[in-house]
Amino acid sequence: MVGTENYESGTFIVAVEGVQYRVPAHCPHRGGRMDHGVFNERSRTITCPLHKSTFRVDTGCQLAGPECGRLATERVDSDTEPAPNI
Ligand code: FES
Repeated sequence: MVGTENYESGTFIVAVEGVQYRVPAHCPHRGGRMDHGVFNERSRTITCPLHKSTFRVDTGCQLAGPECGRLATERVDSDTEPAPNI
């Protein structure tokens, strides 16, 4: 599992160089569990474990895998978000 999951919103949080991003828990292709995917902080990407679609965490743009559009990621404003419980 990558990030801290929020079961109510169906999202989880990953951090890149201190900036947090909210990531949908399910892939736009066929619903693969993105929270079980591979997160690469250096390339700012997350890869779905099912068919290997790869998305930029900061923009949501798809870089590889079966065409399925953008992953609806969003930057988390640290001033308004509560700290995750770990
Ligand atoms: S379900 Fe994610 S790439 Fe197919």
